[in-house]
Amino acid sequence: MDELLEWRKEFPILDNTVYMISHSLGAMPRRTRDRLQEYTDMWSTRGIRAWEEGWWMMATTVGDMIGKIIGAGEGEVVMHPNVSVCQSVITSCLDFTGKRNKIVTESFNFPSNLYIHHAMERTGVRVVTVPSDDGITVPLERLLAAIDEETRLVSVSHVIFRSSFIQNLKAITARAHEVGALVVADIYQSAGTVPLNVREIGLDFATGGSVKWLCGGPGAGYLYVRRDLWPSLEPRLTGWLAHKDPFAFAAGPIEYVDDIYRFLNGTPNIPGMYAAMSGYEIVGEVGVEKIRQKSIGQTTRLIEIAEDAGFGVNCPKAASERGGTVVIDVPHGQQVTKELLRRDFLVDYRPGAGIRVAPHFYSKDEELELTVREIRTILETKAYEQHSAALAH
Ligand SMILES: Cc1ncc(COP(=O)(O)O)c(C=O)c1O
Repeated sequence: MDELLEWRKEFPILDNTVYMISHSLGAMPRRTRDRLQEYTDMWSTRGIRAWEEGWWMMATTVGDMIGKIIGAGEGEVVMHPNVSVCQSVITSCLDFTGKRNKIVTESFNFPSNLYIHHAMERTGVRVVTVPSDDGITVPLERLLAAIDEETRLVSVSHVIFRSSFIQNLKAITARAHEVGALVVADIYQSAGTVPLNVREIGLDFATGGSVKWLCGGPGAGYLYVRRDLWPSLEPRLTGWLAHKDPFAFAAGPIEYVDDIYRFLNGTPNIPGMYAAMSGYEIVGEVGVEKIRQKSIGQTTRLIEIAEDAGFGVNCPKAASERGGTVVIDVPHGQQVTKELLRRDFLVDYRPGAGIRVAPHFYSKDEELELTVREIRTILETKAYEQHSAALAH
């Protein structure tokens, strides 16, 4: 008996789809509709008073809900609209004008992060990118060797979005700190499915969002910054809410506030945060340890079924190295994915990787079999061919 299946009734879309896409868009909790209603009620009945009655504080009251899931302390997480903004805030805190001007990263980091690092080359940054040899992993030894006394920032993903590979953040952080570099981990693909504790690891920064495993929808990214670094960091990507006394509306250069709001800029995305809270509540209540336990069982089984069906698998076979997603390599993957979506099997496709399939705590074991069987049927009946013409355009 899988007690986690009790949660299925909280997620309406599970009634009529095989929902294997939580690495991309977690299912919407039923109670999210009520939260959004609360937002509109607040706006329509309280008007301007809503800011003082909660809205101004949400960047950290909601951030604290994430903090509990990722091991941050109270007031150590601030909400932003997305990861790209969070990563830009981080690089805007750092000085790359001297000899210590390297950002060490990996080719499998999320593209946004790489685009931001390369854009910084205009200000003197040298980007050192460690490639993957096998299309799945990032070689740890090579990554560690690239981190040296000229490194200002090490920027990695905890779980690689395209292959589900889990990186050794402890080893990376230890090496970075040994040479005086800072570390940012993008934990978007781990938070909510792979347990982590940002303080135990010793991370300097962490970024993530709510769209995937946290079932929070778009518009609610989060930024963790190690508390003892706050006084030394002054983001150039800033705004009035990072000011000590924003309502003084003072002209001239900013005087940063002492708390985590120094990493905020303009008005936060209030409806996005209302939408996100229910997912955090549920993930927090279920517990990431329990989610991980079930995820390991289901992803291991999924790999077995896929291999039995004769498909390749482009993610780590060892559970300890694998996040919540299984990447199945089948011929005509993109067209097969389109047909799966048409048939209410929700998955996605990444070029050069394959079909990404992700059960979550609300998935039934039988759905793993159903998904692989459907892929086989689509291939055998050539049902994917109808999408070839559309893709050619
Ligand atoms: C690891 C990772 N980082 C970042 C993002 C997205 O960044 P943003 O919140 O800027 O859209 C994704 C997925 O879309 C991701 O998988």
